[in-house]
Amino acid sequence: MPVPCPGAEGGGVVAPAGLFSREAPLVLDLGCGNGLFLAGLAEGEPGWNVLGIEKKEYRVRQARRRAGDLGNARVLHGEVLEVLSSLPPCSVWRVYLLFSDPWPKRRHAVRRLVQEKFVALLSSRLEAGGTFFFATDSGDYLGWTREILVRSGWRIKDWSVPVSWPMTEFEQRFASAGLNIWRLQASR
Ligand SMILES: C[S@@+](CC[C@H](N)C(=O)[O-])C[C@H]1O[C@@H](n2cnc3c(N)ncnc32)[C@H](O)[C@@H]1O
Repeated sequence: MPVPCPGAEGGGVVAPAGLFSREAPLVLDLGCGNGLFLAGLAEGEPGWNVLGIEKKEYRVRQARRRAGDLGNARVLHGEVLEVLSSLPPCSVWRVYLLFSDPWPKRRHAVRRLVQEKFVALLSSRLEAGGTFFFATDSGDYLGWTREILVRSGWRIKDWSVPVSWPMTEFEQRFASAGLNIWRLQASR
């Protein structure tokens, strides 16, 4: 049974040692790709520390270039599960998982990032009042994610983004192809 986090909204201050130069709520962009969203978010929310995690080296280079001089954006090269595990419990305020590979064939669904194990880890890393945001072009992946979250005792809400919200690279592609985009937000 995970130990509940002490109540604090956006008070999360713990980040991997030395990553950020100041203490601020820690926000993660999992599989941040080329960093378009990460950089836009960090620029629009200067009071947050935004950390991207990305396994592909060339994507990490692109994202770091985009984050440029932003003092509140960093990109780590690594696997989401490993980096999440290395963060202290109750240290993250918001987590974005945007257009994660949907692995549409049923027999490949075990490769999706969202699994029971991932949700349990997320649960232990989010602080009290912390939120998980998920967007996808796959209705099936949305249903899959919702089911796992509900089974794990999370509360689900629709997530509608403000007009000025930064788009990710994949969101831009899907939107210009006229595809439906599905979103949810969840908290424990
Ligand atoms: C479909 S792309 C979406 C990128 C970006 N979020 C967007 O919406 O434009 C998925 C990204 O997640 C990264 N990724 C997938 N699994 C990962 C994992 N386990 N750890 C770190 N990065 C991962 C991929 O390398 C890729 O850049």
